[in-house]
Amino acid sequence: MKLLLARNAGRTPFIPAVILLAAAFGKIAVAGVSSAPSAPVVITGADRRPALSLDGGWASIVDPYFSGLFSFHHEEKANGWFLNRKAQPGDTFPTEYDFSKAPTLKVPADWNTQRESLLYYEGPIWYERDFTYQPKEHTRVFLHVGAANYKSWFWVNGQKVCEHEGGFTSFNCDITATVHAGANFAVAAVDNTRHEDGVPTLETDWWNYGGLTRSVSLIEVPDSFIDQYDVHLSRTEDSVIEGWVHVAGAENATKVEFEIPELKAKTAASADRNGRFLFHVKAEGLERWSPDTPKLYRVVVTAGHDSVDDLIGFRTIETRGTQILLNGKPIFLRGISIHAEAPYRTGRANTDKDQETLLGWARELGCNFVRLAHYPHDETMLRAADRMGLLVWSENPVYWALQFENPKVLAKAQQQLDEEIGTSRNHAAIILWSMANETPSNDARTRFIETLAAHARKLDPTRLITAALLVRAEGRTKIIDDPLGKALDVIGFNEYIGWYEQPPEGADTTDWRIDYQKPLIVSEFGGDAKAGLHGAETDRWTEEYQASIFRHQIGMLNRIPQLRGMSPWLLMDFRSPNRPRVGIQDEFNRKGLISDQGQKKQAFFVLQKAYRENAVGKPE
Ligand code: GCU
Repeated sequence: MKLLLARNAGRTPFIPAVILLAAAFGKIAVAGVSSAPSAPVVITGADRRPALSLDGGWASIVDPYFSGLFSFHHEEKANGWFLNRKAQPGDTFPTEYDFSKAPTLKVPADWNTQRESLLYYEGPIWYERDFTYQPKEHTRVFLHVGAANYKSWFWVNGQKVCEHEGGFTSFNCDITATVHAGANFAVAAVDNTRHEDGVPTLETDWWNYGGLTRSVSLIEVPDSFIDQYDVHLSRTEDSVIEGWVHVAGAENATKVEFEIPELKAKTAASADRNGRFLFHVKAEGLERWSPDTPKLYRVVVTAGHDSVDDLIGFRTIETRGTQILLNGKPIFLRGISIHAEAPYRTGRANTDKDQETLLGWARELGCNFVRLAHYPHDETMLRAADRMGLLVWSENPVYWALQFENPKVLAKAQQQLDEEIGTSRNHAAIILWSMANETPSNDARTRFIETLAAHARKLDPTRLITAALLVRAEGRTKIIDDPLGKALDVIGFNEYIGWYEQPPEGADTTDWRIDYQKPLIVSEFGGDAKAGLHGAETDRWTEEYQASIFRHQIGMLNRIPQLRGMSPWLLMDFRSPNRPRVGIQDEFNRKGLISDQGQKKQAFFVLQKAYRENAVGKPE
């Protein structure tokens, strides 16, 4: 039984022994000596591991001045006062932070849409919940966090276990040294304050939904376990599956096996000099994954006492000149952009039902492709895309004007890329890693994103690298010559002819000059319309006007010979503080083809017709 020695960077109160004993039993914990928290780790396929879910109601305390973590001289407290979970008789120090009387917040969920008083809240909120646990021999246990926006700190039984920055990627905190048999409790502080040196930075065109926005659970692994693995179809050898497995804590004798039972494909792997186990196995009769045949195979990877059982599809993606080849054949990506906004209830989308509703609408639209903007989406979305056969553009939130000169910001962007790719690298649906959206064209930005692109290629040479660029104009000609294009395999570009510039018919007389012989994806175009608002097609904000934008855009896009995909902006209306127009937007960006309440607008049917008749875009 560990006694927590009271230590507090601020005032060091007298804490009677009974408090310390109670702390050791997890009843309360006060500032204590924290075993050094470990850095969060990436675990591939974490959602495929048996887990003890910690989803549900967590006690919550809103703490706008972060007094639960910082003293009155703004020194960080080792474990803060926030852990005095229950007022005790004879307490001799403040008991403001008493979780036992606090209201709950649902996890997973943003806090903004749970309480009217939190809709605009930007700052720290504390979460706490109890859980029982039974430690096992030779077993490590991680606190798995699907996402916490934007900065987060975690304690178990009063011991700090990790902290994390980044609001859209999953991470895992090793809590093996802090859990004990029986009653335990976890505390989290999540702070959605926006930061100039953040990724993303201060400005975005989406609601700053804060909180434990994706599922939280405990996952158990053996002392030596498979933390990352990559499984893909060889681009050069027919029906050969290759990849690697990394084993954390591998001993020399670790034996690694890879198997696809349905194909009777099985092989053992040998370690390379980086401790990664490489494998390469013939898989006769393999059915390739594609939007028409989203075939997934059970894949079992074992290493010593550890085993992961994943569901993986096998396909290849590459470019040839200005073509995109899926499984060696040219394809046109009939897509739509999607924010992680929950249909109907709004707030962060994070359940299988949310994702199947959104992707079901995309399928109904005639899509084979979705741009999951502007940040990595929940694993539930990627699993749904794998199942439903939708190709995915996944995006790192390097959005608009970051501090591109700041090496710390580059490190944060790389960390989020590591987490995004490390977690989601085996989804057949993902074909494009997007580095950025609409960044200003200057040398610092270009160097920053070139570095990211090189890092992404090193992490995953099996996919294509893209970004959504801005375009410039000379008279009636739009020009794509952003120097960043050199670093990309596929060039994405955003343009809003008919909304932010010119009337819809302006598209009819717009020409395009593309300075790259690479595949193009128009990653955004569109305009706002309030569902149910009707008028002439010259009346902005009406469904008729939005439909007119789409009709004229489609005509223009068909005059861009190397266009190989499109993801108009966007599937569903989403909440944004930049969109206040009363009676029309009411703090929603209304460029959705569907309202947040599921009402399909006229433009939905314009695009659906074009997709169903293959009337827009050519694969070659
Ligand atoms: C930009 C940006 C989107 C934004 C959209 C709009 O291109 O990429 O995030 O929502 O335009 O203005 O609606």
